[in-house]
Amino acid sequence: MKYLASALLLDVLYALAVHRRFNQHEPSLSWSLLLVLMVPLLLTWVLINHALSFPMVFLTAYVLFFTTLFTSIVAYRLSSFHPLAKYPGPIMCKISQLWAVLVYSRGKGHYYRKMLHDRYGPIVRIGPNELSVTEKDMLPYILGSQGMPKGPLFEGRRMTSVSDKDTEHFNLIVTRNMQRHAVLRKAWNRAFADAPLRDYEDLMLARARQLINALKTICEKQGGVAGVDVASWIGHFTFDFMGDMAFGGGFELMRDGDSERLLPNMAMSLYYACLCQAVPWFSPVLRNLPYIGEPIRAFGSFAFQQAKIRHDQEPDKKDLFYHLIAAYHADSEESPFTLILSNSILAIVAGADTTATVLRNTIFYLLTNPAYYARLREEVDAAFPPTETSALDTKSCPVSPS
Ligand code: HEM
Repeated sequence: MKYLASALLLDVLYALAVHRRFNQHEPSLSWSLLLVLMVPLLLTWVLINHALSFPMVFLTAYVLFFTTLFTSIVAYRLSSFHPLAKYPGPIMCKISQLWAVLVYSRGKGHYYRKMLHDRYGPIVRIGPNELSVTEKDMLPYILGSQGMPKGPLFEGRRMTSVSDKDTEHFNLIVTRNMQRHAVLRKAWNRAFADAPLRDYEDLMLARARQLINALKTICEKQGGVAGVDVASWIGHFTFDFMGDMAFGGGFELMRDGDSERLLPNMAMSLYYACLCQAVPWFSPVLRNLPYIGEPIRAFGSFAFQQAKIRHDQEPDKKDLFYHLIAAYHADSEESPFTLILSNSILAIVAGADTTATVLRNTIFYLLTNPAYYARLREEVDAAFPPTETSALDTKSCPVSPS
């Protein structure tokens, strides 16, 4: 036992050194991290092997190492030495990002954030190394003259496993490379200029008519009035439209239903992305976990398949990727397949989920507020008298720029 005290002291010093090192260089999941974590065991094993059994050596090494490491981390994060010490926020947020994971897991992150700003003011420390700012006048100071790259939360939101060397191929929304973002953004802007929008509009009108006809048929079959799950129909509608808009068609959820569980897989992937944005290092672990990671893998492989099909078959109509490829090739030599692949998940989520959420909420609030529903109906009827023109035709919309 004569080396026990030295072993324990070395363990403590090593844990403090690891904290210091990780404080300057964020650890990532890798073989080197595994090696770092092996050291306490080796140290203790060599020094006190003969005095204690292996399970006791193991326990002594890791209980002491992790207790020292976590105590040191918590003490530093709550101390006045931390660079964000002067900003107010709840203790749990200052101590660990895991608190944010807990809050996000209940789907109430937005209420929580608002509650924090109501209590602490326009700048709140919402994580050990994260601030939330609601004061718009501070934006120029925060972004600086050159702009600011997107934060690490976008690493956590990635849904596909891409090796580091492919970093430049990440899609517009998650790329943290400002140059790459600028080039892609220019292409996306061109793909959403007036002329391309008119191409997408025809596709949208066709799907909107399909939705209305489907709902009408259900009602007619039940004598005029029927109960339907509107949220689910809207999800199918936006998914079908997104398929037309981005991949030249091929999705028929409104007609055939969702037997492949595309919508639940997308919803689960977004839920995971929302959790992992607080702990980006956990994102690749979660993706690879058996069973738990299945929805995200299935969604990733669906997006990959669509990208491949879209690349191999040029659609008859000009879709999003037609315009993106045309716009992007003015500035880059990157292969069309890479462009389609790296932006396919973005196109699916942005085209289907966001629009479905907005439509579902709009319908919910209109139906639960009949006065507003009546007012909106009056306005629409006045602008598009039913006998003259269709309200689906945006060319006849009074506020349309065209
Ligand atoms: C009503 C529907 C939509 C809503 C509410 C919405 C909302 C948003 C929000 C909040 C962001 C910023 C995300 C962030 O930085 O965390 C964003 C970014 C983006 N959205 Fe949408 N979106 C909608 C529809 C669409 C559609 C239909 C597309 C294209 C298919 C699209 C493409 C994008 C892209 C490419 C970005 C990234 C922009 C950038 O980083 O420069 N969105 N959207």
